[in-house]
Amino acid sequence: MTSKNFIFQTGHAKGLARIEIEAILGDVIKEEVKDGFLVEAEIPDPVELLSRMGSTVRITEVIQSGPSRMPLNFEEWVVKAISEAKSKHEGKFRYGLSMHPKSEKVLKNVLIGSKKKLKATGNVRFVNKDFQNLSSVQAWHQKLLKSNAMELHLFQADKRWYLSHTVAIQNFEWYSERDYERPSKSAKNGMFPPKLAQILINLAQAEKGSTIFDPFCGSGTVLQEALLMGYEATGSDLVKQMVEDSEVNLKWLLTQRQVGNLPKYKLFEADATKLTADQIPANTSIVTETWLGPMLTKELTELERPKVQREVETLYEDFFSNFKKVVKEKTIMVFTAPYHRDKNERYFLPRLPEILDKYTKVIPISDHERPSLFFERKSQFVSREIWKVEISPAE
Ligand SMILES: C[S@@+](CC[C@H](N)C(=O)[O-])C[C@H]1O[C@@H](n2cnc3c(N)ncnc32)[C@H](O)[C@@H]1O
Repeated sequence: MTSKNFIFQTGHAKGLARIEIEAILGDVIKEEVKDGFLVEAEIPDPVELLSRMGSTVRITEVIQSGPSRMPLNFEEWVVKAISEAKSKHEGKFRYGLSMHPKSEKVLKNVLIGSKKKLKATGNVRFVNKDFQNLSSVQAWHQKLLKSNAMELHLFQADKRWYLSHTVAIQNFEWYSERDYERPSKSAKNGMFPPKLAQILINLAQAEKGSTIFDPFCGSGTVLQEALLMGYEATGSDLVKQMVEDSEVNLKWLLTQRQVGNLPKYKLFEADATKLTADQIPANTSIVTETWLGPMLTKELTELERPKVQREVETLYEDFFSNFKKVVKEKTIMVFTAPYHRDKNERYFLPRLPEILDKYTKVIPISDHERPSLFFERKSQFVSREIWKVEISPAE
């Protein structure tokens, strides 16, 4: 198989998407484009690849490109791409087109112009509503990956425009089932999205067939995603109820029609700050959303914040100092730590870098002063900082 050019359309967290793509595929990003990245790679099964990625919403394959300084005839590009696809298919044909960045005027002209020209080739219509871009949810509902349809995208890069056709769309229905339809979902622990779990697992770059261990397993989101990605999974939690919730959720997962044979999993009750050597699985990477501190219903005041920060930092200090003592082999750990926000500022855990330096080797995943990445949702007071570290046995 030879390499081809693809454009990975990313969701909101573009910085995370870059790191995730590189963690899975290596040094494949050729160029940044509006809303995504141009990737040159061999991708035998884009649908399978996309199902394992948390931060890419579509994979599209490049059909044509041209320098943006030239007057480009997008209508001709679209007509050519659709006529070719249509010629392989009898009967009605549907297409969609989106532009990044979007110019409503250009999109409208290209859609109307291409439809007129394509009329001669038979029953062809576009599915864009009101000349708007198609969201991945709309494209999914419109079944644009079927053989009687095609979804096209125009992406602008620094000096070029690319036309690409979608080869994989994020299966948002299955994500939503995994997120909201699991039997045990504790709102108290905050919403930990399956996509974020996938990103963390990918950043760990664990060997195929190895074990993902989550010592703060909560209701088991990381474990669930690890199993779906083909890893064995081990989880533990301080609270018995959480271990039981994970058990119920993983049993539910096994009954889902999308799921074939899953690898093995193991669950037990344990204080993560007191793990013993025999509780840590062999050949493991730790992936976890740790404790984020108390549930907040409003912003912390200047007085409250340091107290909460110290409480979480103490947990980290206890966790890492113990883990370093008991771990038998070099272990990668990818985790989220909380930080607080108000309208103007982000308040990171002040002592976390010092704690990490004491017990681990930090693997930078950004060129920020704190070499971490963030994952934020507008309405939340607590956000997540993502860190990757390596922990080696004490000498
Ligand atoms: C935000 S939840 C974790 C979410 C989880 N990683 C997932 O994938 O769904 C945090 C969990 O940490 C657990 N926890 C807090 N302190 C702990 C400790 N010292 N040892 C083990 N678990 C702890 C809590 O009971 C809670 O279930």
